[in-house]
Amino acid sequence: MINKSDMLQDIERVLVSEEEIHARIREVGAQIAEDYRGKCPILVGVLKGVVPFFAEMANAISIPVQEDFMCITSFEGGTESTGKLTFRKDIDHDIEGRHVLILEDIIDSGSTLKMICEMFRERKPASIKICTLLDKPTGRKVDLKPDYTCFTVPPAFVVGFGLDYEDYYRNLPFVGVLKPSVYQDQES
Ligand code: IMP
Ligand code: MG
Repeated sequence: MINKSDMLQDIERVLVSEEEIHARIREVGAQIAEDYRGKCPILVGVLKGVVPFFAEMANAISIPVQEDFMCITSFEGGTESTGKLTFRKDIDHDIEGRHVLILEDIIDSGSTLKMICEMFRERKPASIKICTLLDKPTGRKVDLKPDYTCFTVPPAFVVGFGLDYEDYYRNLPFVGVLKPSVYQDQES
């Protein structure tokens, strides 16, 4: 059961601290700025989990960029990817001839980003790259490698810094492993 008065009680352990997140985003942001200098990329955030990461990463990229968002969900409340993708909102920009950098909270099976990349490719952008806060390579079901990864995480269900379980825990300032007891009751 989700503890509605104390989020910390539902966290088994902290995987990535607030300080580590901020430092790593600054580092990757500087690399992106260097790689894209003179290219004015469009940063595309995949809602909703990307919100805190997007805001901080955009600030860490010290070159001109444009910003856009799309919304696709692959989970229906649980902790395992259903493989069923629900497409809720497309981006507003025309990306033909543009450099697109997709920002995502976590890559698990890879299906969400694979589908987004395939859809974007038909629009003939100059390039498409992926930047993720977290990569969970053990969950991969399709061939997909992010171009920029802030942290690689083990096969556990994690929450915080945008990542949710049933839309809760997004506002934790760190990334932590959710106690299995929180979702085992719900999913059995
Ligand atoms: P994929 O299509 O399996 O790569 O799923 C990616 C999406 O699943 C992410 O954008 C997250 O929204 C969600 N997801 C995958 N693993 C986790 C996790 O450990 N915690 C919270 N959300 C997750
Ligand atoms: Mg997501």
